[in-house]
Amino acid sequence: MISSSPMRRGRRLVRLSVAVVVTGGLAAAGVVMSTGSATAQADTLGAAAAQSGRYFGAAIAPNFLGEADYASTLNTEFNSVVAENAMKWDATEPNQGQFSFSGGDAIVAHAQSQGMSVRGHTLVWHAQQPGWVQGLTGDSLRQAMVDHITGVASHYAGQIYSWDVVNEAFEEDGSRRQSNLQQQMGDGWIEEAFRAADAADPDARLCYNDYNLDGVNAKSDGVYAMVEDFLARGVPIDCVGIQTHLSQDSDLSTYQENLQRFSDLGVDVEITELDVGGSGSAQADVYRTVTESCVAVARCTGITTWGITDKYSWRGQDTPLLFDANYQKKEAYTAVLEALNAAGGASGERDDQPDAAAYDQMARRESVPVPGLV
Ligand code: XIL
Repeated sequence: MISSSPMRRGRRLVRLSVAVVVTGGLAAAGVVMSTGSATAQADTLGAAAAQSGRYFGAAIAPNFLGEADYASTLNTEFNSVVAENAMKWDATEPNQGQFSFSGGDAIVAHAQSQGMSVRGHTLVWHAQQPGWVQGLTGDSLRQAMVDHITGVASHYAGQIYSWDVVNEAFEEDGSRRQSNLQQQMGDGWIEEAFRAADAADPDARLCYNDYNLDGVNAKSDGVYAMVEDFLARGVPIDCVGIQTHLSQDSDLSTYQENLQRFSDLGVDVEITELDVGGSGSAQADVYRTVTESCVAVARCTGITTWGITDKYSWRGQDTPLLFDANYQKKEAYTAVLEALNAAGGASGERDDQPDAAAYDQMARRESVPVPGLV
């Protein structure tokens, strides 16, 4: 059983405070809501998600923010962002001990100017490591990892809703991925990473993030066992990021069941990198199922798509996003919007959401600096 430490209360407050922002955004968007009914129909993804206390985000790159269609689609439709690459190890610490935050800072500044929350991605990963990390061994790697986490997470402290502390550390069979991190540091490295992140930013929610966690399977069993162990031993972990890189043929028969079991275990779940290769109604159906699954699980706190437009998707040929290369809404967009609206104020509503006035009071009392909170 986890004791309710001040740090945990801090994390919770940031989460609640972010909801003030989205609630404000809902009012600003002119959404008409009839109190206590499930009939409200918001006309943007962010406003629709906010009706049940959730966010709807996108992975973005700072260099595209100057493109008018990119920025206006982002600002209109989304109320959360994550850096697609700008906060990774190679971007933020290209040389040991020399930090570079320009890309990440631009993203945070944009988010704050728009009242959006920010996810942090990612502190430790086997990929996109700078060259100098790849040659390190034993305690040198361990110290470099802790210093990196401390440097990045303390730079952004108080501004991040949730951090992907560790990314993609499991194999498909549920065992640990044999990365340089695992081979040089042994099993304890993930726990160590979470403890370092907790010390550097007590307000951020701390997530483990991975792909192919799209159902009850050997890999999600492995992650489940790790989370269960962390919770039992008081290792600070708050959430599991379900990346959700899919195709229109993906089997989602146990997708919601998997979200629910993590939620029941005692962590939040977030859909962190959603994209679905395909087109038309087949693609839309997969997007609808994912969205319906999230809103049906009280501790599924939000959804992020891995990009805004097919024009800049890392899987561009798969046309996996909600807006086509000309920023037109696709059938999948409508499916997601409908599923979010269907949940607003209905059974899918998260049951731990006080009203906006209560959020506001709590945020002021604790003086937690929250991006965009006015
Ligand atoms: C991808 C980016 O989208 C690409 O631009 C980059 O070249 C490689 O990384 N899982 C993750 C993300 O956690 O960080 C990856 O992002 C996609 C898969």
